[in-house]
Amino acid sequence: MKLAIAVTSLVASPAFTAGQATPNYTSPLGVEIYNPAELFHPSGTWSLMSRAGNTLYISGMRGFYPSNTTLAPVGRERIYQAFANMKTLAELSGSDLASCFLIRPQTS
Ligand SMILES: *[C@@H]1O[C@H](CO)[C@@H](O)[C@H](O)[C@H]1NC(C)=O
Ligand SMILES: *[C@@H]1O[C@H](CO)[C@@H](O)[C@H](O)[C@H]1NC(C)=O
Repeated sequence: MKLAIAVTSLVASPAFTAGQATPNYTSPLGVEIYNPAELFHPSGTWSLMSRAGNTLYISGMRGFYPSNTTLAPVGRERIYQAFANMKTLAELSGSDLASCFLIRPQTS
């Protein structure tokens, strides 16, 4: 089964094998919402990842350390941490960053 990845800003078309992540919620239309324990707890009304059909949407996020939900130092380290988190999410779903077919960068 193929699984695509979208990081609110990154979408892919990888080889999907069953991942470890289990959805926190599944909508009546079958959209799965994930906030895996391996990552930090998102504050507010957003989730870390969702899956619709064979497309995985990984939310854009800041560079939080999963171990303590604090931000990595400003600059390159924070950006690397954000991508490390997104990579972890992809892998927990049985996918990888090489399967990404869309990255949508945004700054704030
Ligand atoms: C989502 O589910 C995981 C277990 O799969 C749990 O550890 C985590 O706390 C849940 N997150 C939320 C926001 O409910
Ligand atoms: C949070 O975890 C990171 C990575 O383990 C560590 O480098 C950082 O010092 C920790 N921050 C706090 C406030 O504990």
